[in-house]
Amino acid sequence: MALFSGLLLLILFLLSVESSTRANQFGDVHLGSQLSPISSLHSWLSPSGQFAFGFYPQENGFAVGIWLAGQPKNTVVWTANRDEAPVSSNATIHLSEEGRLLLRTEQDYENLIANVSEVADSASMLDSGNFVLYSGSQVIWKSFDFPTDTILVGQNLSYSDELISSVSSSNHSSGRFLLRMQADGNLVAYPVNSAALVDDAYWASNTNKYMGLNLYLNHRGFLFMDMNGSKPLLLARSAYPCENKTAIFRATLDADGVFRLYSHCLKNKTTWSVHIEWSAKNNLCDVRGFCDFNSYCSGIGTDAGCSCYPGFAFNDPNKRFSGCYKNVSESFCTGSEEGQMYDVISIENILFERYPYSVQEGKKENCGLFCLEDCLCDVAMFINEKCEKYTAPIRYGIKDRNISSTAFFKVKANPSPSPAAPPMSPTIIIESKKSLIVFLAIIFGSIAFLCFIIAISTFFVYRDRAYLYEKLSGVISLAGEFTLQSFSYTELEKATDSFREELGRGSIGAVYKGKIPGGEKTVAVKRLEKVVDEEEKKFRAEIIVIGQTYHRNLVRLHGFCIEGSRRLLVYEYLKNGTLADHLFTAERRPTWKERVRIALDIARGILSSIKADVSTADDQMVLSSWAYQCFVAGQLDELVKDEHIEYESLERMVMVGLWCVQHDPALRPSIKNVIFMLEGSKDIPAPPS
Ligand SMILES: *[C@@H]1O[C@H](CO)[C@@H](O)[C@H](O)[C@H]1NC(C)=O
Ligand SMILES: *[C@@H]1O[C@H](CO)[C@@H](O)[C@H](O)[C@H]1NC(C)=O
Ligand SMILES: *[C@@H]1O[C@H](CO)[C@@H](O)[C@H](O)[C@H]1NC(C)=O
Ligand SMILES: *[C@@H]1O[C@H](CO)[C@@H](O)[C@H](O)[C@H]1NC(C)=O
Ligand SMILES: *[C@@H]1O[C@H](CO)[C@@H](O)[C@H](O)[C@H]1NC(C)=O
Ligand SMILES: *[C@@H]1O[C@H](CO)[C@@H](O)[C@H](O)[C@H]1NC(C)=O
Ligand SMILES: *[C@@H]1O[C@H](CO)[C@@H](O)[C@H](O)[C@H]1NC(C)=O
Ligand SMILES: *[C@@H]1O[C@H](CO)[C@@H](O)[C@H](O)[C@H]1NC(C)=O
Ligand SMILES: *[C@@H]1O[C@H](CO)[C@@H](O)[C@H](O)[C@H]1NC(C)=O
Repeated sequence: MALFSGLLLLILFLLSVESSTRANQFGDVHLGSQLSPISSLHSWLSPSGQFAFGFYPQENGFAVGIWLAGQPKNTVVWTANRDEAPVSSNATIHLSEEGRLLLRTEQDYENLIANVSEVADSASMLDSGNFVLYSGSQVIWKSFDFPTDTILVGQNLSYSDELISSVSSSNHSSGRFLLRMQADGNLVAYPVNSAALVDDAYWASNTNKYMGLNLYLNHRGFLFMDMNGSKPLLLARSAYPCENKTAIFRATLDADGVFRLYSHCLKNKTTWSVHIEWSAKNNLCDVRGFCDFNSYCSGIGTDAGCSCYPGFAFNDPNKRFSGCYKNVSESFCTGSEEGQMYDVISIENILFERYPYSVQEGKKENCGLFCLEDCLCDVAMFINEKCEKYTAPIRYGIKDRNISSTAFFKVKANPSPSPAAPPMSPTIIIESKKSLIVFLAIIFGSIAFLCFIIAISTFFVYRDRAYLYEKLSGVISLAGEFTLQSFSYTELEKATDSFREELGRGSIGAVYKGKIPGGEKTVAVKRLEKVVDEEEKKFRAEIIVIGQTYHRNLVRLHGFCIEGSRRLLVYEYLKNGTLADHLFTAERRPTWKERVRIALDIARGILSSIKADVSTADDQMVLSSWAYQCFVAGQLDELVKDEHIEYESLERMVMVGLWCVQHDPALRPSIKNVIFMLEGSKDIPAPPS
């Protein structure tokens, strides 16, 4: 008896832990077999009858996958080609005579289910839930190697594998969240449409590569991370409530973004009872991106909902998690009495991702007013005794009584009808404000430089031109919020000790260290050499835009000097040197992740100017055509040899960079779209040559 049960345990063990050779002859599928969704043979069962491979109903058609046979019906654990449209009832699955596993649709269109070069001679649905193809006694393909949103007992999620949630329990296409086993050994959950940076993560195992690079479920329903050389780390355990009856465990990244451990107990021959054994998150509002852009999450536990901020409307009222668009026309920036036309609505206890373009000291009562006075501002948040201003889109919003903040949203003051703004679809906004471009170029080296930091992060491109105007004088002041000081040439000559200490030199002039009187503030003075004239009014407007640009990672403009043909710009002095120093000095060079962060921060800083566009200059073309050639040849690693870089994010950066340096300004994306593309929340079309 003991021998018998020992034998049984051994068999069970062999079935549940995947072995690479054929362990059983049951459930075998022979060449020439086929399935059809409407025949009685719509699936191949495992020997126990607990798992099935074949057609399952999805939406108005059928999908190919693996599920738990019996009741309830919706426990799908794997789907083939999940992002393809459901097929009709005329479709068939074949294990063809040629040894291929195919899906054939009515137009005789064939789709490989198992993409493998070897030829199979049989297949098997195993009791573990793994569907495998054999060549002789060798397993040549297994569904366990291609997890969708679920892992089963015996299945591993190892280095660079990821689970992607389903759209919903009835649509198993790729959804909104992912759980990735990172190269650093940390298992981390992110929204799919994010850049997968630290701020985007909402759950992590907090393991490192010396601990684990492998997540698996054991036969008792314990979720482990493999430890390098020592005991595995227990992440979650099942209470095993099945009263000695058959139990099946699975760990699924659910459609709501929560990673959960489930047990299924076999009640009788056909009915399973389902239990949640563990959840990575208890509050849905803690799942970043649960409510998409411009909306916020409120509620506790799984009772959570999404609401639009004031002035915003749902992208899709039937899918309230899918975010909101700004339902206020942006034309108010052109008006002079915008203060009368707009009002603010405040909401307490709101928090969202915080990258303000401006931070001001002030009283809470004035925070809404600051936003009203600033045509760039969509929302101001009073938090930690400071007023922060933001431009939409804003994301990761939550409302929680424990957060002490007040957010002020700009809305139309009177309900008189105005044309509704189109949904914030990710169309590329094209701007061609040439003179602005040139001025931004002065300030930031050039925006193309930004794009190249963004794109390649190792290139330094420095080229710009200046369009300056006569007659500009006096102090430009904007809503008392900041001032740009006008200096005389003599003042700056004195301040820099006759331009003694040169900090650096670009193509349009040199930068000198100086001290301006009053506060003895250290500044960097840039003396421009090439100058082209245009109207004064435009120049004034551009200087204001530049002066308004405020971001912790961007150099701030303090003032300027125009005297005859002499033009100088006065910047804050960065004692740590320029970004270029950092990027191109080997010892100080930041890691790839840090560089990605810098690029995004710069892009976000430039977004404080809604008119931001990207520009190009001739001597970058050699560099960009090389980058383009590497991109086309699929050899981006040529660009950044000797570095540890995530290929995917490099590719994204290079593609954005190539779009940014297009000769035709109409082709260049807006800076807002640059951010979306960098973050991965917008697909990047292949850039033209
Ligand atoms: C399933 O979800 C995908 C992704 O959101 C969507 O494209 C598809 O239309 C959905 N299927 C149906 C039948 O609604
Ligand atoms: C299935 O094929 C038959 C015959 O070709 C056709 O009449 C029928 O419309 C098809 N059904 C579907 C759902 O496509
Ligand atoms: C099959 O895999 C190969 C190599 O991984 C890939 O190049 C090819 O596009 C795949 N084919 C299909 C139909 O997915
Ligand atoms: C899965 O991980 C376990 C534990 O590390 C290991 O023993 C097993 O060989 C792995 N299985 C596969 C199929 O890789
Ligand atoms: C295991 O740890 C050792 C040293 O602690 C390290 O050299 C080795 O690379 C690690 N293995 C993995 C797979 O991380
Ligand atoms: C489960 O099995 C164990 C030992 O085989 C036994 O002691 C226990 O009473 C059983 N539990 C139930 C609920 O049947
Ligand atoms: C199995 O149990 C369910 C409810 O627990 C019941 O509805 C069903 O009829 C049972 N089936 C069999 C075959 O006993
Ligand atoms: C959007 O704005 C228009 C005009 O201001 C208004 O009529 C409409 O009701 C708004 N839509 C929503 C969903 O708030
Ligand atoms: C607020 O904090 C308290 C104590 O820290 C906690 O018990 C409560 O659940 C929190 N409320 C919300 C809505 O998160």
